[in-house]
Amino acid sequence: MTMHALDAGRGMAAARAALAEADEIAAHAAWAERRGALERQRLRSTPEGFRRPANTPRPALAAFELGLKLTGLWRRGLANGLDVRLRTLALELPGLPAAFEGYRILHVADPHLDAAPALPAAILGCVAGLEVDLCVCTGDFRAADRGPFTETAILEPLAELRRSVRAADGFLATLGNHDCAEMAPELARLGYQLLLNRSRRLHRGGAGILVTGVDDVHRFYTPAAAAALGALEPATFGLALVHSPDLAHRAAAAGYDLYLCGHSHGGQVCLPGGRPVVTHVGRPHRRLASGLWRYRTLTGYTSPGAGLSSLPVRFNCPPEVTLFVLGRPAAEAPVDHPKRRRGGAEVVPLSGRPGTF
Ligand SMILES: [Fe+2]
Repeated sequence: MTMHALDAGRGMAAARAALAEADEIAAHAAWAERRGALERQRLRSTPEGFRRPANTPRPALAAFELGLKLTGLWRRGLANGLDVRLRTLALELPGLPAAFEGYRILHVADPHLDAAPALPAAILGCVAGLEVDLCVCTGDFRAADRGPFTETAILEPLAELRRSVRAADGFLATLGNHDCAEMAPELARLGYQLLLNRSRRLHRGGAGILVTGVDDVHRFYTPAAAAALGALEPATFGLALVHSPDLAHRAAAAGYDLYLCGHSHGGQVCLPGGRPVVTHVGRPHRRLASGLWRYRTLTGYTSPGAGLSSLPVRFNCPPEVTLFVLGRPAAEAPVDHPKRRRGGAEVVPLSGRPGTF
């Protein structure tokens, strides 16, 4: 190849990169405009159409708070809410490329970092020093569920999370129903790659998987959310990051293999045995409101979340940050692979039946 041809090739590559960046900027501007319009309206935009706000009524919350204080349970609930644990789960995923065997994903869901003064330290304390392959955050960074972004104090713990966890493939984030569009550039400035109806490919040893992040669909659904799931090619392993389980059926239909979400807080206040009272998950997906689940060939995990909302208490529903260790079913794993020993990770049976809605 002549020097002239080499220069021409580099010029073409630079032009393509500039065009891709311009496309990215235009797409983000269009997303922010649409998101802003939805934030200004009262009704929720969901995959099933517009719905009324789903918040627990204030009088009910006030009565519950009073009841807890009168019975002396308030302090215990507060302490439960700050007892954040790191939970390690080994997932067996048919179709996972062999090169991703043992891949470690740290999942931070619903931190609501300004919900209680001691919450950032409680969350950061259980992940400090971790070395993982990828860190994903599925939204609800602040406590307020509407209004402009004034809670800038949450940015320091998010910066600290970036500093104290080593993630070889970086930090990916989606937004939740509590988050507003103004927060996206702030998170990007801290080094979080926002996947808002966008995808990113991850590579290991010549193999690749696709990660698709979707903007919140509990309140801010647009057709772009479902369309983003169309990025997955057949036979490629797909990971979907969505704030809530409400898009699981679409992700399954699109061929995704793993779906990580939160939103429900596992109920946050549960009956003894962990049965949630309120989940804020739509009826079709209520079976997926908590823990590990399977829908057709899609494996999913609905995190109980690291933080708190509405009231700063938890009962029978410990908060967690989750570390997933990906593996193939034992029959597919090499005989001498550490996966066979599970590396001390907790292996939890899937809840529910392979489902249909
Ligand atoms: Fe939340």
